[in-house]
This record gives sequence, structure tokens and C-alpha cells, in this order.
Amino acid sequence: MIFDRIKPLDAILATAEKKSLHRSLGAFQLTMLGIGAVIGTGIFVLTAAAAQKAGPGMMFSFVIAGFVCAVAALCYSELASMVPVSGSAYTYTYAVMGELLAWMVGWALILEYAVAASAVCVGWSGYVMGLVENLTGFTLPGALSSGPAWGFAGGIPSVDFSHGVVNLPAIIVAAVVTWLLVIGTSESASVNAVLVAIKVVALTAFIVLSLPILKGENFTPLMPTGLLGHDGLGVVGAAATIFFAYVGFDAVSTAAEETKNPQRNVPIGLLGSLAICTVFYFLVAAGVVGTVGAQPLRDAAGAVLPPDGVGFAQRCAELAALDQAPIVCSNEALAETLRIIGFPVIGNLVGLAASIALPSVILMMIYGQTRIFFVMARDGLLPEKLADVHPKFKTPWKMTIFTGICVAIAAAFFPVGQLADISNSGTLFAFFMVAIAVMMLRRTDPDRFRPFRTPLVWVIAPIAAVGCLALYLNLPFVAKMVLPVWGAIGLLIYFFYSRKRSHVGRGLIEVHEEDQDVPPTAVPPI
Ligand code: ALA
Repeated sequence: MIFDRIKPLDAILATAEKKSLHRSLGAFQLTMLGIGAVIGTGIFVLTAAAAQKAGPGMMFSFVIAGFVCAVAALCYSELASMVPVSGSAYTYTYAVMGELLAWMVGWALILEYAVAASAVCVGWSGYVMGLVENLTGFTLPGALSSGPAWGFAGGIPSVDFSHGVVNLPAIIVAAVVTWLLVIGTSESASVNAVLVAIKVVALTAFIVLSLPILKGENFTPLMPTGLLGHDGLGVVGAAATIFFAYVGFDAVSTAAEETKNPQRNVPIGLLGSLAICTVFYFLVAAGVVGTVGAQPLRDAAGAVLPPDGVGFAQRCAELAALDQAPIVCSNEALAETLRIIGFPVIGNLVGLAASIALPSVILMMIYGQTRIFFVMARDGLLPEKLADVHPKFKTPWKMTIFTGICVAIAAAFFPVGQLADISNSGTLFAFFMVAIAVMMLRRTDPDRFRPFRTPLVWVIAPIAAVGCLALYLNLPFVAKMVLPVWGAIGLLIYFFYSRKRSHVGRGLIEVHEEDQDVPPTAVPPI
């Protein structure tokens, strides 16, 4: 039952062979692709949440999260190069572990892509609002510029509207990006290159201005919440949140079929972009800690407040009223740090850089989501009507609008940290399954050609699986619970709707001629 309905790998590969994309990407382009997809809300915004969870020790959280991503990425690439068709981890799992688990992975990927898009919308909103306020003095009322604070006490969810009701700017950016996707916008190579340059220059400016004025005393206590705190606190808890800052590297894996000499260039592109991002992230984190300090806020009893919770929002509001809000409260941590240390103009420019660059991350995420929905609908597991392609724009417009509405709703009512944590729970599950799938396929189909082979697979894949599990277990309780609840809803839909409509279940193993009904690749052409 669990492992039945395996989609024959040969049928999947027949699709890929017909596509036979021109192999044109080299190691440098792949690295740029990775950096373009990865740098976003994680470093620009979540640095504050990480500091609240781990204090100065969040610097190490960036390294831990980067390491788990790197080993997961090596596993991902073997399958991506071997099964180079659309649908990412969902398709790989279908070929290796069968329909039920593939459905669960596809279902979890909705958390990865759609919820991540919502998180980046909220991150963008924080930067744009901060920029507008600093340039013009105009502030949108709190009720319209952020969602409510959510809490979970004694098993009962609570919501506090006193500091926010709906995040209007986040809805607007989700709507604009959705519209761009409906009319068929995809990011071109040159746009990607410009955005990578903007992000790298912004982070470099931050590092150059902050590192020379680090103060040693700001680094003590180094780990005020310990290595493994409770309910998502501590250095590993912050790593589970910061994992978000590395999500998106799968753009490199999925480009494997367009890569010259993938065995050499894919790992260079993957590990190169992850290594470059890790170095940048570590130095930026050190810059924040060392200049403005990053000790967590505590309640009256001295306990560290979880970021995004009701108590945290209240404490930040009290301190903001006294003009004493620390950096852990900021929605635009990097820009704010620069303003505090005496570089207000450059702070605003960094805010501008984030405002320009983040929408492209939203675009990639919503695009990736519609592509996974599309493949699932084509397999009969979701309503096939949703996959209708627009007669003029040639895009899956119904699915794109549906995704955009879901992204906008989540962005309107949830804080960025909670959305990132929920997104991470889905991503970690998908990467865990990929690590297992790589090992299973090495056993069940050892002779099949693998353009890229995970080095030391029996060491790397178990480390990746354990790393993903460890980060998942260190997410806050609510984010951890979302995955099983979401999974249970998914199972109900599968057994009551999808199972009897599945094409594989009905014996239809179709090969899609040149994948012509799939919208253009999520990977921007270079
Ligand atoms: N890694 C991407 C970001 O941080 C998702 O925005």
C-alpha cells in the first residue's frame, strides 16, 4: 500500500530525453543562479528572529543551517540530474517510493514554496515600510502594516490584534507578482545577474561598515539560550529558522540537465553558492551582533520570549514607545543596524536593495509552486481543470491565481518568522525524503546512469536525513505540529479524491511529448 503505484522511471525519463535541453551552463552561471535564488528574507529579515532565539550564538546557527543544506543539496542533485523533469522532489519520490509518499512530498512542498512566498512578502513589507518611513516620515497604521500576533498557550491558539490586523503591503506585492506570472513574466538571465549584484553589494556594504567597529563585549554572553533551548530557542533552534535563508538552492539542482559536465559543475555550483552565502551570512550576523548587540528580550520573570509571540510583540511595542526597541524587534534588521551605527543613507540604500530584490524571490517561489501543482494535476492527483493554460498568455493562469490568493492570505495575517518556520517544516520533510530516496535508488537501480553521483553517498545521505530531522525537531512547537496536521489533511484528500483519479492508478502511463504542456522552466535561462 505505502510503496505501491510507482511511476516507472523509464516513462519519466522518456519525457526528459525528448526535451534534450542544450547543455550550456557552466560552474559560474550555476553559482550565480544559486546565489540569486537563495539570498532574500532569511538574511535581510530573519536575522532579528534568530538573534531573539540564540543571541550572539546565531552566528553559528547560520553555519549549522548551511551545512545541513549542503549535504541535502548533494543528495538532491543526484536525483535532479537523474530524473531531470519537472516536479522536483515530488517526481523523484513518485519514481522511487510510489504515489502515496510522492503525494505527501508534493503536499509538503506546498509548505515549502507557497508559505515561503508568503514569508518573503511579509519580509518585503517590513523593508518597504521602513524605507518609506525613513525617507518621507509617513507611517502606515500598525493595523494595516502587519498581521496580528499569534500565540499558543496550553493547547489553545490565541490571537492579539492590538499591534496589527492585516499586512496590506504584503498583499499588494503578492498580487503584483501573481499578475506578472499570469501574463507570463519569467526572470531573464540579465535581470538575475543585476539582482545578484544588488544583493551582494548590499551585504558587502553592510559587512565593510560594521566589522571594523565590532565591540567584544557585545559577544557575551555568547549563547544566552544555550545550544538546545526549549520550544525552538537556542543555537540549533535558530538554525532551524535560519534554514530558510538557504532555501532556493534547488534551482541549481533542477538546472542539472542544462549543465555542461554536470558531475563537476553541479557540485561546484551548489556548494559554491551555499559556501559564498554562508560566509556572507556569518559575517553579516557578526556585524549585527558586534555593533548593536543581539541579546534576546525577556519577560518580567527573566524568561526569553519566543519571537513572533504575543508577549514579544507587546514588549517590542512598549520599548518602541520609549524609542528603545532593540534590533531583535526590527522588521528590517540590516537597514536599521546601519542607521543606528551612523550610516542612515546607506541603511536606506540597503533597504532599497532589499525592496528591489525580494520580489524576484517571491516570483521564483510562486512559480515553483504552480509548477508542482501543474505536474500533480497532470498526474490526475489534483483537479485537471486547474492546469488549464491561458489561450493568450500560455500560462497556467487558474493555478497561478489560486496560488497567489493563498500566498496573499497567509502573508496578510501571519508574521514572517512563523511563516518561515512553517515553510521550513515542509522543506525539511521533502529533503529528508530525498535523502532516503537517493539511498533506496542506489540499491534498487544501481546500474542506471547518473549524470551526477552524490559523493560518499552512504555517509552524506544519512547525515542529510539526520540533519533535516534534527532541525525539524528544533522548530517551535506550532511549526512542528503544522506538518502532521497538514499531512493528515493531505491524506484525506488523497484517499477521498486523488487516489481514484490518479493516472498511474488507472493504468495511464503517459509520456508527455517534449513536455509541451508544461510552462517554461522555473529556472531562469542564463
Ligand atoms: N532563501 C530565501 C530567502 O531567504 C527563500 O528569502
